Amino acid sequence: MSGLQRRRVEPEILDELSPADPRAVASRRDLGRLNALMLHRGILVNLMRRHLTLPPRRILEIGAGDGRFMLAAARRLAKQWPDVDLVLLDRQPLVRPETLQAFQRLGWRVQIVTADVFDWTEAAGAPRFDAVTANLFLHHFREPALARLLRALAALSPTILATEPLRAPFPLFASRMLWAIGANDVTRNDAPASVRAGFSGRDISALWPHEEGWRLEEGRRGLFTQGFAARRIAR
Ligand SMILES: C[S@@+](CC[C@H](N)C(=O)[O-])C[C@H]1O[C@@H](n2cnc3c(N)ncnc32)[C@H](O)[C@@H]1O
Repeated sequence: MSGLQRRRVEPEILDELSPADPRAVASRRDLGRLNALMLHRGILVNLMRRHLTLPPRRILEIGAGDGRFMLAAARRLAKQWPDVDLVLLDRQPLVRPETLQAFQRLGWRVQIVTADVFDWTEAAGAPRFDAVTANLFLHHFREPALARLLRALAALSPTILATEPLRAPFPLFASRMLWAIGANDVTRNDAPASVRAGFSGRDISALWPHEEGWRLEEGRRGLFTQGFAARRIAR
């Protein structure tokens, strides 16, 4: 028994630290390297290209962190999608001026929202989006909260895309080896916790709030990733 049969959601240290804490700053830097190693940027870009058949005008990223993950995606997409209003939402966003300038150079207009994802997405009058994306975010929530979040997202957008930790033995093994790339104590704690809280099979789809009118796609992408896409096919 690997202990991975069921999800186990535990608090992650990064979520408890203040954004300016040097340990948090170092762990966000580690996250950038891990996103690159896990090929998450390419995986999300592929999901976006496949599921957004028309150029999107408005995109929301939830749990956007320092915004650099979406910036890497934007660099690959901006040629075909030059006119995008992007909202980066995080409880503790830490988007640096140079990241905002880089988005600006691509022609993407960015709004940063500091809010809890539930408060903001469930507020009456929350704006609508062509797509909502999440990277390493949905796994923070236990099933009832995640079902509630998916319901709120489905009301905001016809396309929801996510790249999350794959809950499987190899990702767990790799997450325990992060000392080898110099990851700090926060990342070395949070990475295995994220894998244990991650997804396999059709875990996310099982919580999807609608039985009809949506096409769901979920499964393993690469070695470390669970990809999820929900697309509305009827009104
Ligand atoms: C593991 S980090 C991922 C950041 C970014 N997506 C990336 O790949 O670099 C998770 C992010 O979710 C944010 N977060 C956690 N719970 C949240 C909540 N309830 N509402 C909004 N943001 C939240 C944290 O502040 C953190 O920036």
